[in-house]
Amino acid sequence: MAHVVLQDLVKSYGGFKAVNHVSLTVNDGEFVALVGPSGCGKTTTLNLVAGLTPITSGDIIIGERVVNDLDPKDRDIAMVFQNYALYPQKSVYKNLAFPLQMRKLPRDEIDKKVKEAARVLDMTHLLERKPRELSGGQQQRVALGRALVRDPAVFLMDEPLSNLDAKLRVQMRSEIKRFHQDLKATIIYVTHDQLEAVTMADKMAVMNGGYLQQYDSPAQVFAHPVNMFVASFIGSPAMSLIPLEASTANGNTVLTGAEGWRLELSPRNAQKVVRATTMKVVLGARHSTIKLHKSAVPGSIPAKAYTVEPTGDVTFVQAFLSGAIVNVSVPPNIAVSPDEQIWLEFDQERMHLFDGETEMALKAN
Ligand SMILES: Nc1ncnc2c1ncn2[C@@H]1O[C@H](COP(=O)(O)OP(=O)(O)OP(=O)(O)O)[C@@H](O)[C@H]1O
Ligand SMILES: [Mg+2]
Repeated sequence: MAHVVLQDLVKSYGGFKAVNHVSLTVNDGEFVALVGPSGCGKTTTLNLVAGLTPITSGDIIIGERVVNDLDPKDRDIAMVFQNYALYPQKSVYKNLAFPLQMRKLPRDEIDKKVKEAARVLDMTHLLERKPRELSGGQQQRVALGRALVRDPAVFLMDEPLSNLDAKLRVQMRSEIKRFHQDLKATIIYVTHDQLEAVTMADKMAVMNGGYLQQYDSPAQVFAHPVNMFVASFIGSPAMSLIPLEASTANGNTVLTGAEGWRLELSPRNAQKVVRATTMKVVLGARHSTIKLHKSAVPGSIPAKAYTVEPTGDVTFVQAFLSGAIVNVSVPPNIAVSPDEQIWLEFDQERMHLFDGETEMALKAN
């Protein structure tokens, strides 16, 4: 296995930069998810690493080599795509053996590698079947197996689970995670599904508009999103982002909502707000950090329930606040009706504050 370094990587199509000065290091044995909305440059980035697309500028290092000008076959990588690209006429065994035959490995060595991959992926009993005799998940496993037999330095995966139904996707998610743990493989995994990234990866690289927004562990990205884009993209339901007006009087810093209510900030949060470039401050709060009350309590803010969505385990209540929609989760035994008057209490320890102009997270000291 090997580490992968992207240094100031750029891919331009005419005047448009699909990948815009991206730098990051994937350590040896790490599982990194490239995640972001459609068109943000994930596949392009992966294809640059694979050598399927020529780079405009920057460097790609795999192991100890700069691979910028190497052919894909010389980069010691294996790719797994969304469409499995299996040979329909060949058995599973032959699908796995084919890339090794192309590399002119001795027959007994091929046999050993194919059987080992089949064992790792628990598909020994499927070796004689044709792809059409397999379920979607089994076909995906064969595609993984075909990457595995090549024993590459790095696995590159582009939305490998997106053709599977929801249940199978969850199952294959844990299988790929297991695959990574067992092999200690270096994996770069592209997905637009933030939940896949959060649940599988050691680190996630959140992209938007060709730019790398944040590169850190899922826990860090979740707890400390660097800007409003990352805050709203990671987590489901999305973090509520409420535009407010900050002011300080008599040593107290308060946020004022469009409806006129005031929220007094803790000293630490007040310190953050002082650092904003503007008085426009955006309050970010995840559904689980907002308490819903049926009557006013000190520090709570009046709001009106708009929609109520029971999901079984939790009920999601949406309310309008200062022109934004706020998502709150409550236990299913709490009955809330649409248009009911409610009070929301924000957790000062777990709220996020963003600069309303730059959209960057505000930090204390
Ligand atoms: N060959 C090309 N010529 C011109 N523009 C391209 C080309 N390939 C990709 N792009 C553009 O580059 C941007 C990034 O595309 P890319 O395929 O990397 O997105 P993505 O993040 O993988 O999206 P998705 O989640 O939809 O797969 C898009 O705006 C796309 O239209
Ligand atoms: Mg893509």
